[in-house]
Amino acid sequence: SNAFKKPNLRPSLPPPPAFAFDMDGVLIRGGKAVPGARRAIERLCGDNPQNREMPFIVLTNSGGESEASKAAKLSKQLGIEIKGDQFIVSHTPMQALAQTALRSKLVHVVGPDAVKDVAKGYGFEKVVTTREIRAWDKRMWPYPVLGGDHDYHRHDPSFNLTTDPISAILIMHDPPDWGLDIQIITDLLLSQNGHISTRRPLHHASLPADHPPFIPLYSSNADFLWSNDYAFPRFGQGGFVAALRGVWAPLMRDQPNGADRELPIAGQFGKPSAATYDFAKRVLARNSSNTKDAIGTVYMVGDNPASDIAGANRHGWTGILVETGVYKQGDVVVGDERPEVVVRDVEKAVEWVMRREG
Ligand code: G3P
Ligand code: MG
Repeated sequence: SNAFKKPNLRPSLPPPPAFAFDMDGVLIRGGKAVPGARRAIERLCGDNPQNREMPFIVLTNSGGESEASKAAKLSKQLGIEIKGDQFIVSHTPMQALAQTALRSKLVHVVGPDAVKDVAKGYGFEKVVTTREIRAWDKRMWPYPVLGGDHDYHRHDPSFNLTTDPISAILIMHDPPDWGLDIQIITDLLLSQNGHISTRRPLHHASLPADHPPFIPLYSSNADFLWSNDYAFPRFGQGGFVAALRGVWAPLMRDQPNGADRELPIAGQFGKPSAATYDFAKRVLARNSSNTKDAIGTVYMVGDNPASDIAGANRHGWTGILVETGVYKQGDVVVGDERPEVVVRDVEKAVEWVMRREG
């Protein structure tokens, strides 16, 4: 037999590029597929000159439902299958909080009622919604409640607001009724250790400089704007938090410690946060491990410079900005919100990468 090894004449291919697609304003708008979106994803599933599969995820700041149900909805809208484990929504990395002491504590979730089940799915054992809190004493919000009044006496038996303090507030998705949530979140921050009916002293200059910390408030999405099929961008969760900040500042105006005048945000998730990009990197690595390929350049295709592109630039990905959502031709983007390239839509983005990667 031949003692000499034949040289390997097949040059080994560099690792394929990977993609992170934003959803609203890139793949869909107002529940309808953006033209070319399905085609773009098909290209990654092997329909390309090298017949290579390229790993991808959907990385969206939307939420309000489980990853699996969001993925199923998007699959239907696009007519191509996207799996739940390829889908990261704004609150997906909040799972990590359920691995802390908060797991068995009572947490307040903000968003549509469905976020309660999402939080339970993440492992939180005791979860209360805004409507459930308000039902405990309707005088807290003496106005009509969207979705109707809740009957506290038939509430979830896992908690009792008379005795259980609320240990954290998780804004998981844009709340349907901003006013109600601003009132209840403010009440909780001003309470003594999360007991809803109590209050810290809050007279002029009365909050001592060494007061106990506010209960932690987490936000899952800093997007001020997002894009549906209306002609102009809509306020996102970041808009809601700006409104909350807007009432917090005058409320705390007379506090001696200037820091107390700023809304205490304990943690920020969603694009462009490190928590979300780190989580996404782990998902991409896991999903591509079956192809045994290392991960090549990761391209983030997004419509929002402040969210998708800033996140990509800050976390080592290459940002591609499209014109089908928040960003419009002629808008000025500066600093770390500047993408590598601007293209018309997601299909053009994938074509640009294919050309670049050869
Ligand atoms: O609420 C949805 C929104 O803020 C953004 O969604 O997919 O553009 O990150 P997406
Ligand atoms: Mg978007």
